[in-house]
Amino acid sequence: MIMMNHVSAGYGNRIVIEDITISLEHPFFAVIAGPNGAGKSTMLKVLLGIVKRKSGSVSVFGIDPEVDKKSIRRIVSYMPQSSTINLDIPLRVKEVVAMPLRIMGEDDESLVREALEIVGAEKYENEIFSRLSGGLRQRVLLARALVKNAKLILLDEPLSHIDSKGRGEIFSTLHRIHEEKGVSFLIVGHDLSVCALYDPYLILLNRRIVAHGRFSEIVKPKYLAEAYGSILLGEGFVVMGEEHG
Ligand SMILES: Nc1ncnc2c1ncn2[C@@H]1O[C@H](COP(=O)(O)OP(=O)(O)OP(=O)(O)O)[C@@H](O)[C@H]1O
Ligand SMILES: [Mg+2]
Repeated sequence: MIMMNHVSAGYGNRIVIEDITISLEHPFFAVIAGPNGAGKSTMLKVLLGIVKRKSGSVSVFGIDPEVDKKSIRRIVSYMPQSSTINLDIPLRVKEVVAMPLRIMGEDDESLVREALEIVGAEKYENEIFSRLSGGLRQRVLLARALVKNAKLILLDEPLSHIDSKGRGEIFSTLHRIHEEKGVSFLIVGHDLSVCALYDPYLILLNRRIVAHGRFSEIVKPKYLAEAYGSILLGEGFVVMGEEHG
């Protein structure tokens, strides 16, 4: 189970997420959505102990991430919004994916291959990572987040550079992993349409939690307008945006 209780956090003197209270029962499949700057990435970083909270408490499977970073790194996998891979070093795809296993001293080629198959990038395993297209790089980084046997996987916009067919396929695979292996997922995403089929737990964030609950209960004009500032309703579709468009 993960819990955030009245958590506020930010950078310097600036608070960017405020009074966040949420608890998710493992294994969960949850999506965080909200406008740019809402604090979605910050929320993941607080769960990892990378950003220190200013008030409130956090428990990730009974562990306070600020206190026991080592345990958190073992049980939680994280794909940041921007890659931290140094593109000047000519690493092969399979080496990039194997990194989390190497850190734990558990290098295993079959796990690397399995993770690459999940994201549909197995045929690139020997290619140089920095020479791949943006979308393929992102698939490889997603494989890297899936490779270790994590109990909780935090993904910060994992589908942002991936084509629409790939988005649907990958999202359905993540959901299958959740169901078959009992892995918990917390996924930051902007494209809510890809989630609809799976009715995930949705957290709508805009500095504070605007609403949370099953996707089908939360994707309503009232909540979306509150999170995004404005929405445009058409027949069978909703356009979300901030006031500047
Ligand atoms: N390292 C940092 N130092 C200072 N301010 C930061 C830092 N990281 C984020 N912020 C600020 O915190 C606020 C929330 O940022 P965050 O990255 O959590 O938003 P987000 O919801 O993930 O946005 P996006 O959809 O653009 O990724 C923003 O105003 C941002 O400028
Ligand atoms: Mg972000």
